Amino acid sequence: PAERPLQGMKVLISAGPTREPLDPVRYLTNRSSGKMGYALAEAARDMGASVILVSGPTQLPPPAQVDLVRVETAAEMYEAVIARAEASDIYIGAAAVADYTPAETQSEKIKKRGDTATLVLRKTRDILAEVAALEKRPFTVGFAAETVDLEAYALDKLARKNLDMIAANWVGQAEGGFDSDRNALEVFWKGGREALAMTGKKRLADRLTALIAERLQAGVVV
Ligand code: PMT
Repeated sequence: PAERPLQGMKVLISAGPTREPLDPVRYLTNRSSGKMGYALAEAARDMGASVILVSGPTQLPPPAQVDLVRVETAAEMYEAVIARAEASDIYIGAAAVADYTPAETQSEKIKKRGDTATLVLRKTRDILAEVAALEKRPFTVGFAAETVDLEAYALDKLARKNLDMIAANWVGQAEGGFDSDRNALEVFWKGGREALAMTGKKRLADRLTALIAERLQAGVVV
């Protein structure tokens, strides 16, 4: 039925920030609230999907009838997503995953010394790219959060990570992006694009999810 286009589908979604510990009391993180990913989980559920939401630390209530898996670090998010990706029909990477994590986590609180301090960071694994590279891969949708050159970076991520679709948003602006209740998306796939105008994150999630269902259908060869 038109209003439940994801009936019977398994949808895996990542949401929120990650938290990379420096020592027992400090961590590196970002401004993601989880609102976009949680709205997508509710939208996919409302369209009939069974939904697993892998979430970094957020202040949000768990969405009803969604299987919530809580993680903290990028490494934990990687494990939680990869373990479930091949059994999923769709993966949507809405989480703001740390690109770098402290090379070492100190077991004791780091002491104050000198006027400057240097952190050594190591690159994390790219969850989205690794999902897209799986042998039995889900329809893979990435996000791109950009402060400049939105379209060029989004198209680069779509091609380089071999995604089925990418949803790009401006961040660091007065409205939309991180933490805001509203957002707008420029969505790209191979051979097409659609602009989803600024609106509440749940309405926007409904539109993106409907677009995913539509592209998924279009890709099914009968
Ligand atoms: O959570 P909110 O406050 O509602 O804000 C929503 C949002 C701005 C966080 C969301 O709309 C968004 O843009 N999420 C992706 C943020 C991000 O980290 O973008 P990126 O351009 O750095 O990463 C590109 C893609 O690679 C993303 O799908 C990301 O999940 C994925 N990635 C990145 C690094 C990594 N190690 N593994 C990944 O899977």
